[in-house]
Amino acid sequence: MNLLKQVILNKIEKYKHLPYGTVIIHAKHKKTKYQLFLLTDESVKNKTIINLLAKWRNHHQKWFPSQFKVTKEGTKKWLKEKVIEVPDRLLFMIRVNNKYLGHVGLFRFDFDNVMCELDNIVRGESTIPGIMTSACLEIMNWGKQKLGIKWYQLTTSSDNIKAVQLYQRLGFREVKRVLMVQVKKNGGTEWVEAKKNHSEKMTRYHLVMINKKIAFAGPSITEKEVEYAVEGVISGFYETYDQHAKKLEKAIADFLGVKYTIATHCCTLALHLACAAIGLKPGDEVICTDFSWIATAYSIVYTGATPVFVDIDPDTWCIDPKAIEKAVTKKTKAIMLVHTFGYPADMDEIMRIARKNNLKVIEDAAPALGAEYKGKKVGTIGDIGCFSFQGAKVTVTGEGGIFVTNDKKIYEKALMLATMGRTDSQAVFWSDSVGYQYTISNLSAALALAQVERIDELVAKKRQIFDWYYKRLKDFDRIKLIKEKKGYKSNYCYPSMLLNDDVLISREELLKKLRGLNIHARPAFPNMGQFPPFKNEFKSKLKFENPVATKVAKRGICLPAAANLTEDDVLFVCNSLKKIVS
Ligand SMILES: Cc1ncc(COP(=O)(O)O)c(C=O)c1O
Repeated sequence: MNLLKQVILNKIEKYKHLPYGTVIIHAKHKKTKYQLFLLTDESVKNKTIINLLAKWRNHHQKWFPSQFKVTKEGTKKWLKEKVIEVPDRLLFMIRVNNKYLGHVGLFRFDFDNVMCELDNIVRGESTIPGIMTSACLEIMNWGKQKLGIKWYQLTTSSDNIKAVQLYQRLGFREVKRVLMVQVKKNGGTEWVEAKKNHSEKMTRYHLVMINKKIAFAGPSITEKEVEYAVEGVISGFYETYDQHAKKLEKAIADFLGVKYTIATHCCTLALHLACAAIGLKPGDEVICTDFSWIATAYSIVYTGATPVFVDIDPDTWCIDPKAIEKAVTKKTKAIMLVHTFGYPADMDEIMRIARKNNLKVIEDAAPALGAEYKGKKVGTIGDIGCFSFQGAKVTVTGEGGIFVTNDKKIYEKALMLATMGRTDSQAVFWSDSVGYQYTISNLSAALALAQVERIDELVAKKRQIFDWYYKRLKDFDRIKLIKEKKGYKSNYCYPSMLLNDDVLISREELLKKLRGLNIHARPAFPNMGQFPPFKNEFKSKLKFENPVATKVAKRGICLPAAANLTEDDVLFVCNSLKKIVS
């Protein structure tokens, strides 16, 4: 059985065998304290509960999938066989001041998507206004925290207006509408999906609603990741304390076709190693894109060298080679470029300028694992490449990074720096120069390794998401969708777009409206050169205006591209975007 499924089902099974009153969610609605009590196998013998359930079942029959004569015996049987004994079903009673008011549950777990249904939401007694909404939120949070549930689905009847409104308030949106007809069955009636030419008179729609957050980023975690993480816990100590870190370094070396790799605690530290390993020092200048996450620039600053910020190419949002050429001085020692959001930079031009001026090239490929430039993997073309395994990247482990190079000298220096300057040349623990403790933990490496072994599949999913966007947005004339250039292969870590000048709504207002629809897009980076450390302390080095980066900083957006998005999710994003922007 799938390990994740096993973990979740074991937990549920354990909870349901505990004495009634052991699993309680303590909650508060406005000033009222209340609890959610999990029904367990003991509850079947609890007369108060059975009586209440029977009363509520009778009262709310109309909205159930089938209608029948409710009895206490039947209710007891239902609770035992259809709730307690069902491995993926949980039901909580809502209790305020020792009085039960209703119930809410979780059911039908989908272990691949780590989601389930919000089930059996019944307001039993006329209650404190808003308490059902609060109870639904509480149980959904509990499911997230205890069982790792990512999002919820439910089915309701379109004519149950109050319920539909409640679910909308909870952030659910309709994703499917199914025509149902009422038929006679087993002495009662039942709602079944309508056939094409149905003749039944009683009809209604069942709405399928989901509250899935359309996340900006997020990984695909499968059984493999769970297995490797468990393996990391079990076997990541004693003689095998670094086995996953070593395997990760080898897996990346093989995937990229590079000679040397050093897995680090994060990419920022890999970038610092890169800057330090090429010998940057105070007084040196590094030509750096103005458009990136600040880690890019700070890794230069850590060595005392100065970043000189230059503009970007409007079609890739990566450093513009023409801008690099204008910025070269006698003090320039290196070029720091970024494969922004997974879109490759123009490496031929960058390498030509570097060779002409004897400069080192550091590729900040933090989000770009799997991207290619003219058939070569990005991160392997310059002197050093650095990648991130932070939680929003294509392959994640929460915090993690890797330094890659084909240059033996650079590698040896970086390795010494990454391990406290330790060489063991005179004695065990001998340190030959001031270094840092920058290496990755084996446990993080275990998870990263599972992800890297799935890199082709993960990149294919990102590219699929981009294709879904492209199909719907390519002809939408209010935005410019950034597409990979011919001969380049983006990994589309963060599919990007620019709002046209004639769009009146501000970027911030647009993002706020999208968030209101549970769509989490992100603004592009601000120009790093405008940050106080550079504006105030390094003022003299802000030589360039960088109009393209300034424009993208104000009007650029990265679209949601979490690994769990479906084509329907992307369709919803595109339709919402078009509606707001038009
Ligand atoms: C372009 C760029 N460089 C560097 C980093 C730093 O990576 P990490 O968070 O692994 O230190 C990031 C992280 O998002 C990034 O986007």
